[in-house]
Amino acid sequence: MKFYQLSASERRESLLQEGIKLNKVDCDLLAELDTLSENVIGKLTLPLSILQVAVVNGKSFQIPMATEEASVVAAANHGLNIFNQNGGAIAKSERTGIWGQLVFKVEKFSLASFQSKELSYLKAANQEFASLVKHGGGVKKIASELKDDLLFLRVLVDPAESMGANRTNAILEFLGQKISQEFAIKKLYAILSNYPSQFTHAKVSLDFASLTKTQDKKIGEKIAQKVALLSKIGKQDSYRAVTNNKGIMNGVDAILLATGNDFRAVEAACHQAASLSGAYQSLSSWQIEDGKLVGEVSLPLAIGVVGGSIKSRSDVQVAYNILGQVSASELAELIATVGLANNLAALLAISTVGIQKGHMSLQIRNILKNLSATDNEKKAVKQLMQEQKRYSETDAKNFLQKIREENS
Ligand code: MEV
Repeated sequence: MKFYQLSASERRESLLQEGIKLNKVDCDLLAELDTLSENVIGKLTLPLSILQVAVVNGKSFQIPMATEEASVVAAANHGLNIFNQNGGAIAKSERTGIWGQLVFKVEKFSLASFQSKELSYLKAANQEFASLVKHGGGVKKIASELKDDLLFLRVLVDPAESMGANRTNAILEFLGQKISQEFAIKKLYAILSNYPSQFTHAKVSLDFASLTKTQDKKIGEKIAQKVALLSKIGKQDSYRAVTNNKGIMNGVDAILLATGNDFRAVEAACHQAASLSGAYQSLSSWQIEDGKLVGEVSLPLAIGVVGGSIKSRSDVQVAYNILGQVSASELAELIATVGLANNLAALLAISTVGIQKGHMSLQIRNILKNLSATDNEKKAVKQLMQEQKRYSETDAKNFLQKIREENS
C-alpha cells in the first residue's frame, strides 16, 4: 500500500518506526483531520484569541484571531481601543466578485464575432448555475482580449457569501467547454485568478489626545505627525512598505485562519494590490486632516462565510459562534478594520518607545515559560533581563545560575 492510502494511525505508526517522535493526538480528532487533507499524521495547534470590542459601522463585534504571536493580538486590541474611543471604524466591502480566467488557442479568429456572443455566454452560465444566482451571485461580466494566437477571457463571478474558488472554476469549465465547441478552438486553461478583487475599505479619524495614555493633545499631535511621516515613507520606500504591510497582514491572516478562509489567496492578492502603482507601496495611509489623524486601508479580501472547509471544521465553527451572524461583507469589513488597527499599533510603537520593548517582553515570557525555575526565581530573572536589556535564553540561564549562587 502507498503511504497516502494508509489510515492516519497507520501513517503515524510507520513514522514512529522510523524513529520520528510524534505528539499525542486524540483518535476522533485525527480521523476528522484525515478527512480534510492528504497524508495526515497529526495536528498543529494555534491559540484562538478574541478581540472583545471592535466598533465597525456603529456596531460592536467580538472577533476571533488565530495566531501564535501574542503581540499581534495585543497590537490589534491596542489599535481597536483607540478606534473605539473615536467612534470606531467606517468600513465598506465592495463584493463586486472574483475573477476567473479562460485562455484558448486560436487561429484566424474574429474577436468581434466572439464579443457579439459574450452576453449569451453570460446568460447560459447563469442558467446552468441557477442556484448561485438564487443565492444572490452569478456571472457578472465577461471581457475578452486577443493577444497573438491566444484568446483571453476574464470572467467576473459574484460568489455570494462564499469565497467562490470552486464555483468559479466550475463556471469556467462550463464556459470553456461551450466556447471551444461552438468556435472550434482549443482551451489552454480555465482557472480562477487571485488577482485583487472584492476590495474592502476601512477608515478611522482619530483625535490626537486618544493616541496617548494621558490624553495629552499636544503630545498626541507630535505622535500623529510621526505616524503620518512613517506612512509617507511607506509610500516611497519598499523596504518600509513590505514591513508595514506585514503588520497589516498580522491581523488579517489571524482572522482568516480563525474563520477557515484561504489566507494564501488573500496574501497573493494583497502583494499585487500593493504593487498596483508599479512600485510596491504600503497598503495603508495615515495623514493629518482637519486636526485629526486619519487612517485608511483598502484590501482585496476574497473571503467567504460559507463553503470550502468552513462547515466541516468544528474548530472554525467556534469562530463563527463568536462572530454571530455575519455576512461575508461584514466579515471583510472587520478584517480590514483589524488590519488597520494592527498597523496603527505598530506605527505608534515604532514612533514612540520602539518596537523592541513590546516584542522583548513577549520574548522574555516565552523564555521564562521553558526555564526550570520556581516562580520567585523566574520573577528575579525577568527583572534582571529587563534591567540589563539581555533577552536570550542563555542570558536567562546565566541570571538564574547567578541568583542561585547568591542565595546558596
Ligand atoms: C511585526 O510583526 C510587525 C511590525 O514590524 C509592523 C511594522 O513595522 O509596521 C511591527
